[in-house]
Amino acid sequence: MNKKIKKILSKKNKSKIVSLTAYSKSIAKILDKYLDIVLVGDSMANVLYGQKDTHKISLENIIQHTLSVKMGIKKSLLVVDMPKGSYKNTKVAEKNAKLVMKKTKCDAIKLESDKNNYKIIYKLVRKKIPVMGHIGHTPQFKKKFKIYGQSKDEIHKLLKEAQMIEKAGAFAIVLECLAPEAAKIITNKIKIPTIGIGSSFYCDGQILVTDDMLGLSGFYPKFVKKFANLNRTIEKAVKKYTRDVKLKKFPSTINFLNG
Ligand code: KIV
Repeated sequence: MNKKIKKILSKKNKSKIVSLTAYSKSIAKILDKYLDIVLVGDSMANVLYGQKDTHKISLENIIQHTLSVKMGIKKSLLVVDMPKGSYKNTKVAEKNAKLVMKKTKCDAIKLESDKNNYKIIYKLVRKKIPVMGHIGHTPQFKKKFKIYGQSKDEIHKLLKEAQMIEKAGAFAIVLECLAPEAAKIITNKIKIPTIGIGSSFYCDGQILVTDDMLGLSGFYPKFVKKFANLNRTIEKAVKKYTRDVKLKKFPSTINFLNG
């Protein structure tokens, strides 16, 4: 087993797994110093490409951004989201996942859960492709943003889903927008780590979209804590640059190449 994955597994019930998304080398290089997992998320569709959902991002887009992210990664586990349609059946999933692994040299791929993709996970894992699952709010298949696992029946269904994913051989599962009790029960009942987003502190680890937590994306649901306000910082810098150019303060003699 990949050493980085072993390390992630060993953190269950010991220390929190820390994870964020990246789409480029410059951000990945910073994240890599601190994080356990860097995810090249299909959230790039919304964040970078201004699309209304994640459905149209292509495998080529994902591979291209992963090649950039990979250049910034030395120690974290690099996980790549498989875009919608790229794992619609076992054959297609195997072909595309192999392509992603070969071209990007990432450590693992992530699949959102749809009714029957346990078989796909099983097959990929047997082909030595490490898989991270993703349940609850899965934007590739569900339109509405809501809280999952609010009734006993729903918790039971989500738990079954997580257990099937675990049985199929996934090494971790993202729990997106799960009620705290659901996240707690699933995290306690399965042996692989759970990585939460909007799913409380009961998960074994946390993930957020980096542009959201940096205050850059403009998307701030209740579960996002803004750890910075980069929109404001960047705007201030651009304003200052504009003023300096107009006032002929920039460039000055110290910026002359032959000065
Ligand atoms: O695409 C993404 O960024 C994700 C995370 C939000 C888990 O799937």
